[in-house]
Amino acid sequence: MKEIFEKIAMKFGTPTYVYFEEILEKRALMVKQVFENLNFLPTVAVKANNNPYLLKILKDMGFGADILGEGEFLACKFAGITPEKIVWNGNGKSKKQREFFLSKGIKYVNVDSKEEFELLWKEKEGFELFLRVNPDIDPKTHPYISTGLKKHKFGMSFSQAEEILEKYGRKISGFHIHIGSQINDISPFKEALEKVTLLAKKYNVRSINIGGGWGIRYKDESELNVDELKKTMVPILKNYEFVINEIGRFIFAPSGVLLTKVLLVKRTEEKTFVVVESGMNHLIRPALYGAFHEIEVLDPKNPVVKLDVVGPLCESGDFLAENINLPLPEVDDLVIIKNAGAYGFSMANNYNGTTKPAEVLVKKDGAIKLIRKRQSINELFDSCILD
Ligand code: LLP
Repeated sequence: MKEIFEKIAMKFGTPTYVYFEEILEKRALMVKQVFENLNFLPTVAVKANNNPYLLKILKDMGFGADILGEGEFLACKFAGITPEKIVWNGNGKSKKQREFFLSKGIKYVNVDSKEEFELLWKEKEGFELFLRVNPDIDPKTHPYISTGLKKHKFGMSFSQAEEILEKYGRKISGFHIHIGSQINDISPFKEALEKVTLLAKKYNVRSINIGGGWGIRYKDESELNVDELKKTMVPILKNYEFVINEIGRFIFAPSGVLLTKVLLVKRTEEKTFVVVESGMNHLIRPALYGAFHEIEVLDPKNPVVKLDVVGPLCESGDFLAENINLPLPEVDDLVIIKNAGAYGFSMANNYNGTTKPAEVLVKKDGAIKLIRKRQSINELFDSCILD
């Protein structure tokens, strides 16, 4: 493994997101096998990773896509994902987007609210509409990525959905639920599905989109058990003629790492700081959610000490890990930040005038392929008007 990363660093430089085709395919198969006996459309949540080359691998395995904005649609287009396999999500859709996506032939829309239905869909045809219902269930995940409680901005209440169904039932194809992300326990998924299925039976709704949210193991938690999930969910899903899901993290996160380099090892009276090339600009999850990502020094030379791994940006929140035990690295050592394939590059930004990393794929035969060039600083100012 170490050799591959050294080769990538030599050839393409750092920081670089590195993905493994073999893991990506394995994870995608794990998702598909859960639903193998159902009439099922697997979709990939493009927000987790929008690299068209990776999306194409999933497309070749039968995946469609869950998208929010026009940029995510473009990623699908580059990947060859056809519009009849695309689901449009979001709690703030515009009329302009509606016309754009309609003209592109996108098939499915998850309608987030009664207000959205009235503004955009009451009088329009052309999409299959799924009502996103909020089942008021606590997924017990980080509050920022929890979406299925009444207090959250997502979805409509059951009674609002009933109002729409009573009046416009023939326009509605199905229900959508997505209760949050990084959920490692099966029971919230089951509870939500059971609740919605009661409503579906009442109104003879025969299609369901069960969203995403499957949790992975970042630290001590155990990954969502997909075999158990299958045993629990499939008997309920058999009530439906058609099932969609939207998975991002479970497929992408373990397939990618961020490869970066040590700039400096700094000691204060309090602490040891390992300053690396990447911070909250390249992987924002630790800063934003307090998320834990395991870090490995590729060629450890020194004993293990307690330290912080921080980025080079002007914020104290700019860290990748705090108080972890790691063999003390040296200047120019390579480190990898693990489980960074989901919500890593897609949330990267240009804070402090920095550029986004390159992306490289390690193919199944071991070949190394650049799948996104490192951003150039000129791109940062492409849209600026100077006079
Ligand atoms: N469907 C909908 C409607 C969603 O909002 C999401 C994620 C997904 C599917 C995919 O969820 P997944 O399978 O990836 O859990 N940036 C955060 C995660 C935000 C999730 C947003 N919605 C993070 O880095 O943890």
